[in-house]
Amino acid sequence: DAAVSTWAEQVRRAAREQDAVILAHNYQDPAIQDVADHVGDSLALSRIAADCDASTIVFAGVHFMAETAKILSPDKRVLIPDARAGCSLADCITADQLREWKAQYPGAVVVSYVNTTAAVKAETDICCTSSNALEVVRSIPAGTDVLFCPDQFLGAHVRRTLGRDNIHTWMGECHVHADISPTDLIDQVHANPDAELFVHPECGCTTSALWLAGQGDLPPERTHILSTGGMLTAARATSSAKVLVATEVGMLHQLRHANATTDFQPVNPGAICPFMKMTTRDKLLSCITEGHDEVVVDPAIAVRARRAVERMIAIGN
Ligand code: 13P
Ligand code: SF4
Repeated sequence: DAAVSTWAEQVRRAAREQDAVILAHNYQDPAIQDVADHVGDSLALSRIAADCDASTIVFAGVHFMAETAKILSPDKRVLIPDARAGCSLADCITADQLREWKAQYPGAVVVSYVNTTAAVKAETDICCTSSNALEVVRSIPAGTDVLFCPDQFLGAHVRRTLGRDNIHTWMGECHVHADISPTDLIDQVHANPDAELFVHPECGCTTSALWLAGQGDLPPERTHILSTGGMLTAARATSSAKVLVATEVGMLHQLRHANATTDFQPVNPGAICPFMKMTTRDKLLSCITEGHDEVVVDPAIAVRARRAVERMIAIGN
């Protein structure tokens, strides 16, 4: 509508004036996704943040994502529309807790999901995201203990897929993905017996999907455990009439845009991340025009955190 197009023009003009690139995560509100220069998963956005030429990065996402951009590009100005946009998963472990855990496993390699604070990354050997967790852990010799934090479900997925029992997982979870329950998933699969299923590995219901596949209720070739970026690739390739999607509902905008002939439906339409939705249209515009909230990371922490993030980025390059 006219109001959205005027707002979008103002945002684009302000971004040009400020030499800013706008990055938006796949879970942002559709209007925010549409106005951004780049939309993607957390790994893709980190790579863009590391490589882009703009002097200002505006991160429409949550705080740890903007912090990761700042860690990778310390000389750039990094802005987030609302610095209070946190993450329940990142809140599950502190740097002190990680130091205590490491003391119990001397010689272990610490793999942290990017959904962590800069202080936790500084205590980490190598970061990962949901799209590269398997590759990151495969890069560690099989006989070495791995401490995987903070997401228990992603950790369990890696452990199960790689068949390594020396992967120790921290018991954190994302409250949005945890809220997509096994019952929601089982009911939806039974009601849509021909549908394909995309499940984000942060979901506790991943094991239910595998259980259904094991029961023969869901053919394994129709069960996909994918990062948000992986879902987009799979959406372009699918010829199924219907796909059930177990992740935050913002993802549906990109999936429907990528493939207009398949019907993408959420397993739980209430899976809405309140932190992601703190980026409103007004806040995005004032963020660019007024230059707030600026993301600052203690340089001593940033140097140590950068090593862990850069090791991750090098994998798969
Ligand atoms: P992706 O890495 O799939 O983008 O997921 C990250 C996430 O859960 C952000 O909340
Ligand atoms: Fe964090 Fe979950 Fe929101 Fe992602 S969806 S930002 S993991 S709270």
